Amino acid sequence: MSNTILVTGATGNVGSQVVQQLVASGIMPRVAVRSMNKAESLKKAGAEPVEMDLERPETVQSALTGVEKVFLVSPFVPNMVELTAILIETAKRANVQQIVKLSALAQPGIALSKWHSEMENAITSSGISFTFLRPNGFMQNFVNAMAETIKSDKAFYLNAGDGKVSFVDTRDIASVAVAALITSGHEGQSYTITGAEALSHAESASILSQVLGRTINYVDVPEDVVRQGMQGAGMPEPTVNALLELYASYKAGQAATVSPVVEQVTGKQPISFEQFAKDYAEVWQ
Ligand SMILES: NC(=O)c1ccc[n+]([C@@H]2O[C@H](COP(=O)([O-])OP(=O)(O)OC[C@H]3O[C@@H](n4cnc5c(N)ncnc54)[C@H](OP(=O)(O)O)[C@@H]3O)[C@@H](O)[C@H]2O)c1
Repeated sequence: MSNTILVTGATGNVGSQVVQQLVASGIMPRVAVRSMNKAESLKKAGAEPVEMDLERPETVQSALTGVEKVFLVSPFVPNMVELTAILIETAKRANVQQIVKLSALAQPGIALSKWHSEMENAITSSGISFTFLRPNGFMQNFVNAMAETIKSDKAFYLNAGDGKVSFVDTRDIASVAVAALITSGHEGQSYTITGAEALSHAESASILSQVLGRTINYVDVPEDVVRQGMQGAGMPEPTVNALLELYASYKAGQAATVSPVVEQVTGKQPISFEQFAKDYAEVWQ
């Protein structure tokens, strides 16, 4: 049987790290890209690009042909459950042996958790062996979602109150994913993945300030302000509502849980927020 690993979401936060770490382990993964324009750098990095757009099922079928294992990233779009179902059904037909799925921290009563849980159930029902990765909020959100105002206003804006969040570095999530893909003993496991400590957004701002040598403020703003900002950025309404629910859960302290999984699976301490800030410092300059 082929031992090809397909990495989806290969240009994204976690998938790009999974690709790097697989290549560093001597494995050439097949990597799914929506546009072959993005393929060149992945090819140079040692991967085998293949075109795959979940909105075009025929590309999913060809991408999965001959694949043994899939690292599955569900793009955060309103039809993520339906798109993921297409991949799971196609994987079943293609005789894929294992899916390592990027999910999210399970939290009661929020849409994001419900959607990820539906996708996990579809995998379980398919009979394909699985490992579910359920990370908390990414440290890299401070890069992708907040860098602009950190640079322009020396501040970032959210409605998360004083709630603590055990942010996790995507490099650690990728390390757990790679272990699940290339070593045994992770089949049937659901891993809650967090950093080593829970921090409020004000505490994160204080660490960023120390590392960058200038004051960065966290501004706790009303939910309506955050809603308007996301709508203004063109985000679809279901996505806006799901994120506002998530931030409300942060505020309520529901994302403060700390899990030992990174160390248990990788043998390494999770990357601290301070180390993350040092590693990405130039992004906020
Ligand atoms: N951000 C967080 O704090 C957090 C926390 C826990 C869980 N999560 C979960 O993580 C997942 C997102 O992972 P991420 O942040 O690593 O991804 P990301 O950076 O948002 O990137 C999304 C990836 O999906 C690809 N993609 C988008 N639409 C596609 C389509 N129609 N067909 C095929 N590929 C498509 C993108 O490719 P292109 O380059 O072509 O756009 C990109 O590689 C979501 O399921 C989210 O719920 C996020």
